[in-house]
Amino acid sequence: MGRLDKLPPYLFSAIDAAKKKARAAGVAVVDLGVGDPDRPTPAALLEVMSRAVMDPDNHRYPAQRGDLVLKQAVSRWLADRHGVQVDPVTQVLILVGSKEGLGHLPLTCVQEGDNVLIPDLGYPVYGQATILAGGEPRPFRLVADRGFLPDPAELEELMDDRTRLLFLNYPNNPTGAVADRGFWESVLGLCRRKNVVLVNDAAYMEVTLDGSRPVSLLKVADPASDRVIELHSFSKMFNMTGWRIAFAAGHPAVVGDLGRVKESIDSGVFTAIQATAAHALGDVFAEMLDEVMRVYPRRRRIMVDALEKAGFEVFDSPATFYVWSRVPGSESSVEFCRRALEELGVVVTPGPGFGSGGEGWFRISLTADDRDIAEGARRIGEWR
Ligand SMILES: Cc1ncc(COP(=O)(O)O)c(C=O)c1O
Repeated sequence: MGRLDKLPPYLFSAIDAAKKKARAAGVAVVDLGVGDPDRPTPAALLEVMSRAVMDPDNHRYPAQRGDLVLKQAVSRWLADRHGVQVDPVTQVLILVGSKEGLGHLPLTCVQEGDNVLIPDLGYPVYGQATILAGGEPRPFRLVADRGFLPDPAELEELMDDRTRLLFLNYPNNPTGAVADRGFWESVLGLCRRKNVVLVNDAAYMEVTLDGSRPVSLLKVADPASDRVIELHSFSKMFNMTGWRIAFAAGHPAVVGDLGRVKESIDSGVFTAIQATAAHALGDVFAEMLDEVMRVYPRRRRIMVDALEKAGFEVFDSPATFYVWSRVPGSESSVEFCRRALEELGVVVTPGPGFGSGGEGWFRISLTADDRDIAEGARRIGEWR
């Protein structure tokens, strides 16, 4: 069987098709499916971009591994925000979105017959990228009883001498769970003993709803000596999903190997976008922290109040713009979500889209405008 044949079907394509069908039939669809911020990129960044795009120096091939100005801004920001020290030249790599970095990471170290530990509840890319690199994805469970953190004993059991990577994602999509220092210390210890590269997908690191600051893996590890890598994204925090820019930081050899893979595939991010991203990490960052706190906690409250009043059990989470809720009764997640679309015109995502552990759960994204959030909450709340 070829590698492409081994890829699981992409559930989100089916949801998209059902959504289009409902819209074509005249249903006023409220789309709470995809995590794609509805708010615009901040005006200050658009101004920087407008100027940068006019500069002919920016029209040529970009610096392959990232512009030094941006890498220095990243290094400063990691120090100020997360207390992390990384060298901008050897320990920072600019990515064409974090999906790109996650997708290429297995190519750095996975050979045919190797395996990679992936969360079952997780962003589908970890497993797909493993398969495309010729490896075997080994899912580990994330369950509500453990706050959607993995059981280190299960991780250890799944690891063998062909295990190359452990993918984690905190703050977590789809559950909103966060990891604390103690958790990072325990998995880091395990990865050191087993000589496994520890990856944290930190796409939602700055999207917290209670003003807290989740602990970076790079703060607990020593990225100069521990084989760790953390991927941060501009997408969710700065409403920049369409711009395609993110960065990885971590151990020089791990970051360097990812840079080498990318050299054979892409030629870096448009320099004007990199200049804009460097600006984002300055004053605009504080502005966006305020915006995140202004927008998402309010939307979450509207949604969670409606769900809880209607008897839904919602996972209590302080981060991300997702609401993770149990499907009531014994109906399957896919059936529940199909009926939500057909009977209510509301798009929500069935839990199994993130792995078999998502059965019995569904995800609501709060990245729709306030009117849609209120309308979606009303329809679900009154549904019986
Ligand atoms: C957990 C997680 N990681 C990574 C990404 C990719 O983000 P981007 O490629 O826009 O940086 C997403 C996007 O939805 C995500 O949910």
